[in-house]
Amino acid sequence: MPTLTLAPASVADYRRLAERRLPRFLFDYLDGGAYAEVTLARNVRDFERLELHQRILRDVSARSTATTLFGAELTLPLALSPVGLSGMMARRGEAAARRVAGFFGIPYCLSTLSVCSVEETAAAGSGPLWFQLYMIRDRGACADLIARAKASGVTVLALTVDLPVVGTRYRDVRNTMSGGGGSWARLRRGLISYALHPGWALEVGLGGRPHILGNIAPYVKNASTPADFSAWANASIDPSISWADLAWIRSQWDGPLVIKGILSPEDAVEAVKSGVDGIIVSNHGGRQLDGVASSISMLPRIADKVSGQTKLLVDGGVRSGQDILKAMAMGADAAMVGRPWVYALAGAGEAGLLNQLKAFHGEFSVSMALTGVTDTRQIGRSVLDLRSGGDA
Ligand SMILES: Cc1cc2nc3c(=O)[nH]c(=O)nc-3n(C[C@H](O)[C@H](O)[C@H](O)COP(=O)(O)O)c2cc1C
Repeated sequence: MPTLTLAPASVADYRRLAERRLPRFLFDYLDGGAYAEVTLARNVRDFERLELHQRILRDVSARSTATTLFGAELTLPLALSPVGLSGMMARRGEAAARRVAGFFGIPYCLSTLSVCSVEETAAAGSGPLWFQLYMIRDRGACADLIARAKASGVTVLALTVDLPVVGTRYRDVRNTMSGGGGSWARLRRGLISYALHPGWALEVGLGGRPHILGNIAPYVKNASTPADFSAWANASIDPSISWADLAWIRSQWDGPLVIKGILSPEDAVEAVKSGVDGIIVSNHGGRQLDGVASSISMLPRIADKVSGQTKLLVDGGVRSGQDILKAMAMGADAAMVGRPWVYALAGAGEAGLLNQLKAFHGEFSVSMALTGVTDTRQIGRSVLDLRSGGDA
């Protein structure tokens, strides 16, 4: 039975709002995963399977949800994951996300493939700004991007390594987002989308222009639509990238360097040997290799190998403050969210995103209290029920 949501309270509520507001092809691009979406579902399910361990009578009147990460004080052990094309989901979406995240006190990680440039995004707010880098074949362009990030005040560089080639997403194929369908199909789809989604069309489709990809625009010739830019990106992301390239990145960037997209304990050990400052355990939100394990299920095995030697973050399936607590219990220093922040921003604007972050904060704080911890430094396996905490 359809329900009328007066005040969205959860990620699922904001997801519904985003679904109503966005043209189908954009919602599917955001919401979907690779192939049969097995890993996408697994990411969420494996968080749900973990059971928290309720504790009582421990004086939880004073609690701190704060933590320190890469030298920055955070309100909550949470960061916003990079999501490409966010500026198509909400008006100047990347700048908006940076504004809200900075105001709330958590880092925002800007994708290479963003509508707003790093310069525009940096100028939109304050607080820790991270930059996600795809290794581009043209190393000159890559070096320039890193230099621009640095000049804009970016504090952490996150190199994404789980996309040497792009995983096929069935929903995007059906919607002619990736391959299939020519320019006529795209034009027709564009016109229908505008007509059926006037709110999005006015505010984002028309009001949010230009829809170029601001970070890479200086290096792309003859591109005017997001589809042109996506085609350039698909052809330009370097599949030959290997461990040896990390040294080159290090020569260009002297700040904290994080590798995003590690799912294997062996790769994590290799990353630590290469001197990275952090690892984001991630399967790209189930958008790359469908069938791999969930990020949360791999986290403890990775933590066993590298804990204490590098910062550990995890994304994929985090949908509540309870999940942030579970991620920390399994060995993460902080969690990250991708789709949830975009659902909130696309569905209900900057106020929606701020409310979603406040909800995460409230859920995390209450869950700390009810598992008997008062400080993020106390969070460990003890907040999980032993039956579920060992090997998710
Ligand atoms: C629409 C979309 C676009 C994404 N674009 C990027 C990107 O440009 N770079 C990147 O490193 N990860 C990208 N990701 C992956 C996210 O950073 C993150 O790993 C993932 O969304 C986490 O899973 P979650 O959505 O379940 O929180 C994208 C994810 C989505 C949903």
